[in-house]
Amino acid sequence: MDRVYNFSAGPSMLPVEVLEKAAAEMVNYGDAGMSVMEMSHRSKDYEAIIEGAESLVRELMHVPDNYKVLFLQGGGHTQFAMVPLNFGTKNKKADYVITGQWAKKAAEEAEKYITVNRVASSADKTFSYIPKLDKSTFSEDADYFYICYNNTIYGTRFTELPDTDKPIIADISSCVMSEEIDVSKFGMLFAGAQKNLGPAGVTLVIVREDLLGDVLEGTPTMLDYKIHAKNGSMYNTPPTYSIYVLKLVLEWLKAQGGVAAIQKINEKKAKILYDFLDSSEMFRGTVAKEDRSLMNAPFVTGNEELDAKFVKESKEAGFVNLKGHRTVGGMRASMYNAMPLEGVEKLVEFMKKFEAENK
Ligand SMILES: Cc1ncc(COP(=O)(O)O)c(C=O)c1O
Repeated sequence: MDRVYNFSAGPSMLPVEVLEKAAAEMVNYGDAGMSVMEMSHRSKDYEAIIEGAESLVRELMHVPDNYKVLFLQGGGHTQFAMVPLNFGTKNKKADYVITGQWAKKAAEEAEKYITVNRVASSADKTFSYIPKLDKSTFSEDADYFYICYNNTIYGTRFTELPDTDKPIIADISSCVMSEEIDVSKFGMLFAGAQKNLGPAGVTLVIVREDLLGDVLEGTPTMLDYKIHAKNGSMYNTPPTYSIYVLKLVLEWLKAQGGVAAIQKINEKKAKILYDFLDSSEMFRGTVAKEDRSLMNAPFVTGNEELDAKFVKESKEAGFVNLKGHRTVGGMRASMYNAMPLEGVEKLVEFMKKFEAENK
């Protein structure tokens, strides 16, 4: 079978060049005489891999020197707990914007340890927009301000940061390195790798050094960023193979021209799909236009049977994982960095044909 166009929300497509390189190096990496999977994380070969990965993150995201770059485990969900345990230490209070399931879960997890002020929510319209923020609802004494920058399930993204003097902490799991982000505007950023950076199993954390210090009493050692920072992400055995593939993905991204160049392609891909959704009589996007994500585009026909037919027939035509999240229904196309422009063009061609055949 040929490779399909995989529109999954994550884990999702990896560049084929990366898979081929990993395959070529699978059994014997360089002159190591072993696979990366078999290496000690303390070996010279592996040190070069993890250090190379960190320097590519710094280069591609223009990470300022006063930020630490960490490779951790436990996915986004572990970050939901680490954030309050590490940053909710002064007044034990934080502001959260509820823009979907991931922000909601992060707030609920934080509430186990600190007071959470939900400054705004778009739950009233199934999270189909980014709520306007009113500063009078912000807490004067919040230790930090939390957002989910790109909402994978609902297909919205922030285009403007909250006007706050508190450290902004953002979940960028589904938009990391897909568009340029000014790291210096954030206290901390995190992203599970399995959408834009590589395989599941490694979580990228970028944190401003001065925020590292006290943690809430009883915080497990493994959930203390300071411990990981002090040990260069090697306090315990890191997810060695996932970090290696992440490095290959970043080398690929650099060869594409970096984040600014891939952003242009991502904008092009999103425009092709959204322009079609806006002109179609059968399909329509579910998100407020000004808040549309570049990465995740939910859409519906308005008829559940027709949606199911579309998901089935698109799969047969080689466009897989287009079924929408159960809370939105319909379809969702996730177009991460590794999805080629051609994949979106062909999907839209298929949608046009489907519309003509099912009028
Ligand atoms: C924006 C966002 N945050 C967090 C998560 C949860 O990540 P994980 O499954 O790595 O814990 C996801 C998963 O899709 C996500 O899209």
